[in-house]
Amino acid sequence: MFENYDRDVLDLVEPARLAAAINPRLGIVGGGQLAKMTALAGLQLGCDVVVLERNSYSPAANLASHSIVGDWDSPEALVKLASRSDVVTLENEFVDARSLRALEDFGYPLYPTASTIALVQDKLLQKETLAAAGLPVPRFQAVAGVADVEAAGDALGWPLLLKARRNAYDGKGNVTLHSPAEAAAGWARLGGDRGRALYVEEFCRFDTELAVIVTCGRNGETATYPVVETVQHHHICHVVRAPAPVPTEVATQAEALARAAVGAVGGVGSFGIELFLTARGDVLLNELAPRVHNSGHYTIEGCLCSQFENHVRAVLGWPLGDTRMVAPAAAMVNLLGTQKTLGHPVGIERALAVPGAHVHIYGKAMSGPERKMGHVTALGDTLEEAVATAQRAAALVRFGGTER
Ligand SMILES: Nc1ncnc2c1ncn2[C@@H]1O[C@H](COP(=O)(O)OP(=O)(O)OP(=O)(O)O)[C@@H](O)[C@H]1O
Ligand SMILES: [Mg+2]
Repeated sequence: MFENYDRDVLDLVEPARLAAAINPRLGIVGGGQLAKMTALAGLQLGCDVVVLERNSYSPAANLASHSIVGDWDSPEALVKLASRSDVVTLENEFVDARSLRALEDFGYPLYPTASTIALVQDKLLQKETLAAAGLPVPRFQAVAGVADVEAAGDALGWPLLLKARRNAYDGKGNVTLHSPAEAAAGWARLGGDRGRALYVEEFCRFDTELAVIVTCGRNGETATYPVVETVQHHHICHVVRAPAPVPTEVATQAEALARAAVGAVGGVGSFGIELFLTARGDVLLNELAPRVHNSGHYTIEGCLCSQFENHVRAVLGWPLGDTRMVAPAAAMVNLLGTQKTLGHPVGIERALAVPGAHVHIYGKAMSGPERKMGHVTALGDTLEEAVATAQRAAALVRFGGTER
């Protein structure tokens, strides 16, 4: 294309215009760690990355050739992002689907689509969609007030999970109610009395939590990663073990359910599907995330093609990569903040001295209790070996304060 131009001409072309002429431009709504790892994969494939975030110092902003500061829900900010991108994708499901429709109305390519995001971002609508597709989910019910919660508990049994329909993450939109006496306090705690929409789910007595990453291409091609075990404390994921130590039939069933769930919402891109495995060996869908997912971070070092690279490939309409693991086992341990401080890591030198530990620091300006600040991945011949290496390195890193 540029055969007839020399550098003098290129020097004159406005940088954004030149980038548009040469590289695919990947627009990402959100600038957190998921955007950062997606951006890294995109940069490797020659993309220019554009990020929309509410501040200019997000983890992904450093990697972006252009960073737009604005509200994700603002159609104006979204159009600004889209007008500088060849394709727009999302790092979270909290962007109002009605605002996203503005992009599609103006013909900007968006993956996953606004209608997929609409089906997924409302957890009640998501559960209804999965159930309507004949997929197994815990029993759930819509509720409009405390009396409905009490009645639902009597029907579904106590304890009962009260959940926010939207904008919930890391368990922050969940309350476990042990009896009708707790319904009013739980309702208030989640903001039900201030008009926040909630719903309830039966308490699922699962043995193990599983997760699967599925990537769907724009042409319907599908790539499925191995099923992993996620270990949660206080509703937040601490450790991921890959592959999950479950019988082959369970793994096959989990992977099939995950693909069916993404199909039910018409997903394009990498999706994280969370499942419960009961003591009886039944697999139920918990929820899906229309984006790359914490349970798939191990794929960066652990698989031939990571969930991030496959996401970039999918949204750009490129062929998908191989999802097979490169070692018998992999483990990922999240680095969580403990208190509100500046987000600089302390102890990273000692963590890096652990052989086989892959340390990832997200570069967040602020740490906070249970905030995801980084992670460590390790590969091994066995799960025990991989977990031990990752945990040893992870225990050496904390955020804020000074070195002891
Ligand atoms: N119906 C249920 N029965 C028992 N435990 C549940 C149920 N639903 C959720 N949990 C527990 O709470 C955790 C978080 O719930 P959920 O995945 O619905 O919320 P979330 O805030 O979107 O979480 P995350 O962002 O970590 O995925 C689950 O991983 C599981 O440990
Ligand atoms: Mg979840």
